[in-house]
Amino acid sequence: MTAAEVRRTDGSARDPRDCDFALEPLPGDALHETLHALRRIAPIAPCRFGGQPAFVITGHAALLEAFADVDAFPPHRMYRASFEPAIGESFISMPERERHLVYRRLATPAFRSRAITRFEEAGLRALAHELVDAMLERAPQGPWDLVAELTARFPYKVITRLLGLPREREDAFHAWALALLRFREEPDAARAAAKEFTAYLRPVVAARRREPREDVISELLAAEVDGRRLSDTEIESHIRLLFPTGGETTHGSLGNLLSLVLSRPELQERLREDPSLVPAAVEEGLRLETPIAVLPRLAASRPVRFRDVDLPADAWVLFAIAGANRDPAVFADPDRFDLSRPSRDALTFGRGVKSCPGAHLARRNLQVAMEVLLERLPRLELIDAEAARPRQSVLRAPAALRVRPVR
Ligand code: HEM
Repeated sequence: MTAAEVRRTDGSARDPRDCDFALEPLPGDALHETLHALRRIAPIAPCRFGGQPAFVITGHAALLEAFADVDAFPPHRMYRASFEPAIGESFISMPERERHLVYRRLATPAFRSRAITRFEEAGLRALAHELVDAMLERAPQGPWDLVAELTARFPYKVITRLLGLPREREDAFHAWALALLRFREEPDAARAAAKEFTAYLRPVVAARRREPREDVISELLAAEVDGRRLSDTEIESHIRLLFPTGGETTHGSLGNLLSLVLSRPELQERLREDPSLVPAAVEEGLRLETPIAVLPRLAASRPVRFRDVDLPADAWVLFAIAGANRDPAVFADPDRFDLSRPSRDALTFGRGVKSCPGAHLARRNLQVAMEVLLERLPRLELIDAEAARPRQSVLRAPAALRVRPVR
């Protein structure tokens, strides 16, 4: 086996350039070994994506450069092709830079500041307790599946309550978000989900316009930038956008964090002894197992050259955030979970014009969920280590986190 090869599960060697990041599950270390091997070949290397030839950028410096090169890698193109047909037009898929900025400024402050601070202490923590109450009521001594009972529900409930949406369909949001994200694979199901979602949203938006409340929808209706305001239809699209972008990513990152902690009993012990370490554990978890391990970009509609590599028009280029986050040129001993590591260089939330406006909310979700779990549940052990390994690349998460109290 050469330095650039990786081992298959049967022990034989394979060329990492054959890896298909859309079709292969790449559980646990399989993804990280593949990205390390690709980085040893070159910071941008060939690979496959959904059966098609593609390129993957795995080096930290190269990825920073690629995030900044919006001419070679227009940041809206993938979203226009894969999100807009079902979600509707929102700033994520707007090609014009000025318009993207105005709409981003209109739609995101409500997620950053006042609304979150207001919601944080009372709402967020109470919601985490509510979910743990339900787990303990169902099975006082366990076992529990922290994916089904917590990570797949918490972020969706948070967004619903932050927005001030009625709760009766709260459990439908995860399914709607997943269907919207799978537009390319199953367009009819995505359109059907968008329709149901809109039927649920429309009367609420109309009611908030008549009678504003202390919630994010009312703030979105009142927001004004450069004399522009959001129409009801635009607000509906932005809300449809927030569930897949905010819910699925937070679901994945919470699952990945819990998987890291539960598979390291000494780390679980340290966090129990000193919960003030939780924010550092969250940062390191986000670096080591980021939910958007690979972010697909559709490159320019003309041939471009990047780092001496010629890319054809409309090439799929995968921004391997998980590769950059473990680049040994930037992170010493990069595969190690290290609570004392500074987190500023991690690219988990992207960089540049599209950097994540929900990062603060996501971090608070993870911290509060972790704190409440440590406070309410006894020492836990994994029952099924295989299902707990994060899998997939574009949205990476464990399939299940089946746990019981340590005996
Ligand atoms: C741990 C959780 C999260 C991760 C890892 C994450 C990651 C990212 C990344 C990497 C980008 C850049 C995408 C690009 O360059 O194409 C992004 C953008 C975005 N994120 Fe997040 N995100 C998270 C949570 C959230 C939350 C909670 C929300 C909202 C409630 C959110 C809303 C968005 C939106 C709307 C964009 C597009 C920004 C734009 O087009 O200007 N994200 N996120």
